[in-house]
Amino acid sequence: KQRIFSGMQPTDGSLHLGNYIGALSQWVALQDSYDALYCVVDLHALTVQPDPALLRERTRRTAAQYLAGGIDPERSILFVQSHVAEHAELAWLLACQTGFGEAGRMTQFKDKSAKQGADGTTVGLFTYPVLMAADILLYDAALVPVGEDQRQHLELTRNLAERLNTRFGEGTAVVPEPHIVKAVAKVYDLQDPTAKMSKSNAGGKGVVWLLEDPKKAVKAIKAAVTDADETYAVRYDPETKPGISNLLTIFSAVTGRDVGAIAADYDGRGYGYLKVDLADAVVAFLEPFQERANTYLSDPAQLDAVLADGADRAREIARPVSDRIYERFGLLPAR
Ligand code: TYM
Repeated sequence: KQRIFSGMQPTDGSLHLGNYIGALSQWVALQDSYDALYCVVDLHALTVQPDPALLRERTRRTAAQYLAGGIDPERSILFVQSHVAEHAELAWLLACQTGFGEAGRMTQFKDKSAKQGADGTTVGLFTYPVLMAADILLYDAALVPVGEDQRQHLELTRNLAERLNTRFGEGTAVVPEPHIVKAVAKVYDLQDPTAKMSKSNAGGKGVVWLLEDPKKAVKAIKAAVTDADETYAVRYDPETKPGISNLLTIFSAVTGRDVGAIAADYDGRGYGYLKVDLADAVVAFLEPFQERANTYLSDPAQLDAVLADGADRAREIARPVSDRIYERFGLLPAR
């Protein structure tokens, strides 16, 4: 079996529907066909200087949501990035292979650093994609399932892997392929169907959080911005009907039904019916999800044991890969 790696940052108290549809649900679908590692990337979250107690809590909450979403810790390796020291170590080696300009061209870095100013921007934010490359190369991952916004970071990872193979010999690194499923790779903000769903838009009113009160989700869906055209047709057409198409994508993801079949059910009846039923479908998805997540969170010792076991299994894969890359770089073996 080929290996896959992916991760999410524990930067909020909850994941949102974009994280679920674009990433987590894809991870679940892939875990039988691949040897999968799913990581809570807590070191990446340090770039926003979280409160230590909150970071600890959010790391567990993120892991609990992986489990609630269907990641099976028997079949997949579920772990926390900082538990495997090799991530940070390999990041240094890769930082020494990354051009300053190359890292500076990352659009996420450009956007965030522009908002924060030179002194508000940390060196960690700048080297963030290098740490992400280390996450992936450390496991010789062949495939990386992510949303559209990670495409450029994946391209950097591939360039670094190829560079290592050129400089230190073939077989130094596996060049990973992105796994980005077009139909779900970008879930849009409910208030602005041209922007990706993310807490940084419009005060977060267009975001559905997986662990929030489902009543808020209902409100957000009913207030969703739709497309004004004469017909009020319900059909999947992201170009001319971005708002409705986004609602159809979400509807399909939470029910498992086909987008076209859902559109056919509502076409000619107007947007209101679609929103009401979508709100019901999202609640029907959120309630059992939250119940499962809360069950995992109610027993932190058991959750920590699952994560410790995952870290042990991750380390077994990471150590020989790390040894190989260290050796190729010419670092003197410790013994
Ligand atoms: P993060 O934590 O921002 O997001 C986690 C995953 O959710 C996807 N995503 C979305 N997908 C569809 N629609 C949206 N609106 C949406 N918003 C977010 C993201 O594409 C991502 O797949 N740098 C990564 C974390 C990371 C990582 C890695 C990923 C660190 N190391 C190694 C893969 C492999 C990030 O910040 O994702």
